[in-house]
Amino acid sequence: MPNPINRRNFVQLCCTGCALVATGCIAEVYGGAGDFRLADDEFKALSTVGGVAPINVEDRALLLIRTTASEIVALSRICTHQQCDLSPSIAGSFDLDSGQLRCLCHDARYDTTGKVVGGPAPAPLDRFVVDFDPAAGVGQVLL
Ligand code: FES
Repeated sequence: MPNPINRRNFVQLCCTGCALVATGCIAEVYGGAGDFRLADDEFKALSTVGGVAPINVEDRALLLIRTTASEIVALSRICTHQQCDLSPSIAGSFDLDSGQLRCLCHDARYDTTGKVVGGPAPAPLDRFVVDFDPAAGVGQVLL
């Protein structure tokens, strides 16, 4: 016979639910998809303005760009011309002075909003919001 819902059972259920929600929230803040830490080797380049680092979030290949001391932007890193990967280790480069991301395959150029500013690319790069805390050196890409 199932236990009736009395005051004690109700309190136990609520506490269990709150604990699960809290655990989920913590996991989302500290280990969710799109999280990054400047202390990690793969994101160390973002410690400097003008630094870039690739990141994969769910099924999206993105490039993080440190545009200012307090801002990091996330753009799709797949060129819209013939899909070259804009990671610096593959076929991309970012120039802080011009603020342009360049595809080395056929010289498409994009600004940090993803807009095409030169070359053969037929469409802009998708841009995603980044929640970045420069004091803590952590951030999260929000899809
Ligand atoms: S694939 Fe990037 S310019 Fe052609």
